[in-house]
Amino acid sequence: MPKFESHIFVCCKAGKCDKDGKEKLRSAFKKELKHRGLNPQVRANSSGCLDQCDEGPTVVIYPQAIWYGGVKLDDVERIIEETIVGGRIIEELVIPDERLNCKKKD
Ligand code: FES
Repeated sequence: MPKFESHIFVCCKAGKCDKDGKEKLRSAFKKELKHRGLNPQVRANSSGCLDQCDEGPTVVIYPQAIWYGGVKLDDVERIIEETIVGGRIIEELVIPDERLNCKKKD
């Protein structure tokens, strides 16, 4: 089996980033990776809370450590195409460094 090149961690915390708890966002990443023949080199993993709840639905891509927030199903194809394949960051989805790991707003 080839070495993993990237892991896409998708927050699947039910009721928060994953509103209905059905992991639709993660499934969409898996489906698109398979469709493009990118698995198993790139893997979409479900994750628990990534502590960016105010920015959710949250996705982080390693090893690049690219944090995306407010990710919608419609963003999946673009993330795979632009970030995973093209190596480009989608600026409008990036959670800015100054908001990462911040305490939640009240
Ligand atoms: S519930 Fe998704 S980042 Fe916290």
